Amino acid sequence: MAKLKVAKVNEIPEAGIKKVMVDGEPVALYKVEGKIYATTNICTHEMCELDQNHMMHGDVVECTCHGSQFNIKTGANVLPPAAEPLKIYKVNVEGDEVFVEA
Ligand code: FES
Repeated sequence: MAKLKVAKVNEIPEAGIKKVMVDGEPVALYKVEGKIYATTNICTHEMCELDQNHMMHGDVVECTCHGSQFNIKTGANVLPPAAEPLKIYKVNVEGDEVFVEA
């Protein structure tokens, strides 16, 4: 497991998404109530990019392509049509730097 520096805390919008690349994979970084989370940026339904197609509902991200919803802390799929969870990544914050384990 490599710990990769991916962003600064203030580059991630509160209740929004910053897309970064981690080990060649697109990853969505979220900030909810000041805490940082990371999931794959690709919806498990039909592969829409979440940073381009999303609405946040607290710690739930909705893919606005077809309405699937996922908990960003666990990756759990909480509303269809998606049936599979999002991959989540472990996040570490050191000072103002955000690291993701991949
Ligand atoms: S691609 Fe995300 S809900 Fe269909």
